[in-house]
Amino acid sequence: MHYPYQIKSLSDYKIQYKKSVEEPEQFWAEVATNFTWKKHWDKVLTWDFKTPNIKWFEGAKLNITENCLDRHLITQPDVPAIIWESNDPEEHHRILTYKELHFKVCQFAHVLKNNGVKKGDRVCIYMGMIPELSIALLACARIGAIHSVVFGGFSAQAIADRLQDANAEFVITCDGAYRGAKEIPLKSVIDDALIGCKFVKRVIVCTRTRTPVSMIKGRDVWWEDEIKKVETQGNHDFPAVEMDAEDQLFILYTSGSTGKPKGVVHTCAGYMVWANYTFVNVFQYQQGQIHFCTADIGWITGHSYILYGPLSAGATSLMFEGVPTWPDAGRFWEIIEKYKVDILYTAPTAIRSLMGFGEGYIAGKDLSSIKVLGTVGEPINEEAWHWYDRNIGKEKAPIVDTWWQTETGGILISNLAGVTPAKPSYATLPLPGVQPVLVDENGKEILGNGVSGNLCMKAPWPGILRTTYGDHERCRINYFATYENLYFTGDGCLRDEDGNYRITGRVDDVLNVSGHRIGTAEIENAINMHQGIVESAVVGFPHDIKGQGIYAYVIYQGTHGDAELARKDINLTVSRMIGAIAKPDKIQFVTGLPKTRSGKIMRRILRKIAENEIGSLGDTSTLLDPAVVDEIIKGKL
Ligand code: PRX
Repeated sequence: MHYPYQIKSLSDYKIQYKKSVEEPEQFWAEVATNFTWKKHWDKVLTWDFKTPNIKWFEGAKLNITENCLDRHLITQPDVPAIIWESNDPEEHHRILTYKELHFKVCQFAHVLKNNGVKKGDRVCIYMGMIPELSIALLACARIGAIHSVVFGGFSAQAIADRLQDANAEFVITCDGAYRGAKEIPLKSVIDDALIGCKFVKRVIVCTRTRTPVSMIKGRDVWWEDEIKKVETQGNHDFPAVEMDAEDQLFILYTSGSTGKPKGVVHTCAGYMVWANYTFVNVFQYQQGQIHFCTADIGWITGHSYILYGPLSAGATSLMFEGVPTWPDAGRFWEIIEKYKVDILYTAPTAIRSLMGFGEGYIAGKDLSSIKVLGTVGEPINEEAWHWYDRNIGKEKAPIVDTWWQTETGGILISNLAGVTPAKPSYATLPLPGVQPVLVDENGKEILGNGVSGNLCMKAPWPGILRTTYGDHERCRINYFATYENLYFTGDGCLRDEDGNYRITGRVDDVLNVSGHRIGTAEIENAINMHQGIVESAVVGFPHDIKGQGIYAYVIYQGTHGDAELARKDINLTVSRMIGAIAKPDKIQFVTGLPKTRSGKIMRRILRKIAENEIGSLGDTSTLLDPAVVDEIIKGKL
């Protein structure tokens, strides 16, 4: 495939950027002509951030899978679409060419149809990183069902919350999943989730670990049996269902500053164009290259840069089931050598963790195929950036530091590999169509360079979220009401003298732990469920590997066991309510929390204590009980 909209030089970037801001409709209409449409749009863009009401390519008809699969059948049927590397290095890898992937997606679309799934139905997907996961998403998209993928690390309760919120009547899962040395009993977690979700009509279970599972008659079916039925019916093709540009493609739940995760909604056309455009430009993808994004499909990075971005560009996407440190910390490098990977896209957490194992695991591995390196999910510190550059890119591969969010659908701020300059720890410049502004507390725009503020966007790009599922007002309040006529990202940011952006981290009560977003309120709610807990307050603290760790201050009146056991009990409750990813790294028992006279917890003080910045606590005399601060400092972990 060739990409006429691929930016080739810094001056080209400047021209394209200018055009995208001055004539957005014409700009995106030109990009969009490179896709397959069943019908072209009547209007490229309608928008209003007040409501919000955002529509891209209104009136157009399409199916994203025709862009990800069918159109490549003619030009490159035998090119690998997905290369799958097992958790177990001894297990044979799998390759699905575009032809094979198309076939399997059509087959599974029949399975979905046979099981009663229709256009617009919500399908919850809770699987490990096996090719069938990609097939499941694409098959949903093919029949127009809205997929809602839940990361395999979330608990039964978290799944139940998401099933209820989306009123999802269908679930696709696996018996179990392998992750490093661990085996995760996915189906059994689903069974627990479904105890309170009687509205779920069908669970399709794919075999991976063949761990014993309970299969409920009338509700649960095996993936493989259902495929056999389709084979005997002789059904092969499955014509892609015609979708409106603004029909919902998927929901992905993410944390905010309230206790309840939000179902971020992306729609068909804008998301497709954005995932593709950013993939092609940021990574400067060239036909035939192998793109290895190490994220899990349970997160937005996997949706956009394992599946929809690469496949819509006819790329070869490498999907890895395992973890970077198993069987040892050389696994990524072995994979790069084995498949001659061209592009590696991973998280700073993974880089920092592998850095800790030393260079021994890299020695002797041939990484000469690497052309481009990328990072995502959290700020990358300069030390990790240079380590990545030196040891993996051998100082020859450009590094793209890509800043974006679940809500943005794809990358918003990043250098373009080898085309626009990189600057360590800076995401650098906005992509065409992206108009960042920095504002102060009152929403006043901070002009000029060498400044910092809260990061907002002035206008919509095609991949912006459209709503939060079932609650449009929540979408408005969360993203469009803080500052008038702006999309607020929740991030703090600085702009250097040359106009480069550097993201400094969240300015709301959201933590970024190992590149995963978790709301402090969500963790507090989970902790507060535990017997004997009177109150809790959660803050982040700097963590060498995870970026941020979770620090919980807890007032506990339980009587069973010593402090250590109590911590374990509390952690178990958090694992049950959310998942192991939300477990606090530190739990400090306190007798009181610093509160203002009106009863508000002074998180700033708790944050400073957790960060070991006791010298800069500021004025504590306005607190209801200033003595509590001394007690907390004394007991700091
Ligand atoms: O704080 C920013 C941080 O991750 C948040 C978005 O998290 P999530 O929706 O889970 O999506 C992660 C994958 C896109 C942002 O608000 N973040 C993401 N990328 C970067 C980043 N912080 C600094 N630099 C980045 N490159």
